[in-house]
Amino acid sequence: MNIHTYEKIWLGAAMALIVGFIATITYGAVGPGIAMVDDDGGSIDPGEISDHERFGDTGVEHVGGNEYEVTVVAQAWSYSPSEIEVPAGSEVTFYVTSRDVTHSFSVVGTNVNTMVVPGQISEMTVEFDEPGEYGILCNEYCGEGHHTMEGKLTVVPEDEFDLTELSVEAPDEVEAGNETTINATVQNGMQTDLETTVALEIGDQQYEEAVTVAGDSSETVEFSVDTAELGAGDHDWTVTADGYEESGTLSVVDAAGGGDGSDGGGDGGTGNSSAEGGAGDA
Ligand code: CUA
Repeated sequence: MNIHTYEKIWLGAAMALIVGFIATITYGAVGPGIAMVDDDGGSIDPGEISDHERFGDTGVEHVGGNEYEVTVVAQAWSYSPSEIEVPAGSEVTFYVTSRDVTHSFSVVGTNVNTMVVPGQISEMTVEFDEPGEYGILCNEYCGEGHHTMEGKLTVVPEDEFDLTELSVEAPDEVEAGNETTINATVQNGMQTDLETTVALEIGDQQYEEAVTVAGDSSETVEFSVDTAELGAGDHDWTVTADGYEESGTLSVVDAAGGGDGSDGGGDGGTGNSSAEGGAGDA
């Protein structure tokens, strides 16, 4: 059988293209170390994310030394948390899963770029040496709000980073003459001890107490406030600890002169406020 020269050239070219395509795909799959999301990170029931040991409490966790774990839940069309802060010089392992459809989690400018599949946990580790800001994006089309799905990762200088939370429990209203307490709780999310001074300022009264909060635990300081000395009226208070601040107002009412208080005088309940995260000016 005689094959025409042009026919041979075309056949050869077609063969070369096929081999070339296969080589390209093989390189893409094996060469640069790109992998599909697999079971390495573990699996999870998307309906039970809130009860999950890790995903029930998202955010940054100090594991020890310079190692941190960041847990993120993706959903249409946001990340929880959407703003992440880690210190420079850290090694961060991200754990990401989805509550609904397939998303992606990519930290622009780093090699963190993964699909986020419902039911699976994507895990990857990256080192952040220098302070900086990175955008977080969803690269997987996930519906009409896809383009709005974003977040921010901030790498702060090491000495500006902590995982302190200050929360204060104080009554809104108290009768003059009674002693009342304002409780300040300092939570330390780092694995190292935190030494700080908790201070309360109310009216012209000032209280302070030095505390050492052990790693991964909390301490509550109870301040007894003398309301007789404050006198009737609204008194602003401020609690500070480790560069964090919480404030509120305590109303001291005159017990005798106030009638029977038929209009309620508020719920007299317990105010509760809390500040978390953020770089304290430690
Ligand atoms: Cu989520 Cu696109």
